[in-house]
Amino acid sequence: MTWKQFYTDFWKRMEPGFAVRPDVTRELELRSSRWAGKIGLELGVGMGFYSKTLATKCRTLYLNDINEHHLEHALSIEFERDNVKSLPGDASSLSVPDEIDVIFYLGNGLPHLSLSQFIKMAMNLSSRKDRLIVIEYMDFLETIRSDGFREKTYEPTGDADVMIESDNVLDFSKGIVAKSFSSQGSTYNISWNIYSSFIVQGVMESAGFKFDDRFSKVYSRNATVTRLDFFCN
Ligand SMILES: C[S@@+](CC[C@H](N)C(=O)[O-])C[C@H]1O[C@@H](n2cnc3c(N)ncnc32)[C@H](O)[C@@H]1O
Repeated sequence: MTWKQFYTDFWKRMEPGFAVRPDVTRELELRSSRWAGKIGLELGVGMGFYSKTLATKCRTLYLNDINEHHLEHALSIEFERDNVKSLPGDASSLSVPDEIDVIFYLGNGLPHLSLSQFIKMAMNLSSRKDRLIVIEYMDFLETIRSDGFREKTYEPTGDADVMIESDNVLDFSKGIVAKSFSSQGSTYNISWNIYSSFIVQGVMESAGFKFDDRFSKVYSRNATVTRLDFFCN
């Protein structure tokens, strides 16, 4: 079994609703006046935990994921209206329809991307100048700073945080969290890229986005999640 298959399976095994973080849904609802009625794109949709909320508010919602199984799962959700479209592919090279007003990248998708992929993605998303992008990701550096990552044992929380377990290796020189674990007789080595909020902000600003708002809060046991909104113009 490849890591990709394992990861897909891991997500599929989660109970519906298990990994939905109510605070994210609530915050999306609270702040939806900024994008209600607009055409949205959800990058890296995963199982689609937030897609229903987004689709209820957006005029049209495109769903994207690089992993076809994830996208298929998200598209199988019973949406209230017939306003959801599929846009498969890699977010860093995706052909983004010009009509898209607002882009969501939720649930810690950034650590999947290398810095060069992230820069490419940011440049790609700024193809239209008045776009809003909402990013949510885990700020590992802030997490370490605030609660001493190395001394703690992290347990999986259902937020796809297979990497937040006890034997993570944190390599500042490479900017990664690496983890090796075994499951069903196979050993997997995975690594996630670390971005602090100033790196994210710097990349987005160099792509032409203006930093607009920022939320930081602690969720699911010791992990700091940062939410950033950028306008492009
Ligand atoms: C941590 S999950 C988050 C899923 C969802 N956004 C949520 O909040 O529940 C990250 C998702 O990003 C997808 N992904 C990873 N790299 C990607 C890329 N380059 N382009 C598009 N999707 C990507 C993964 O397949 C996975 O479904």
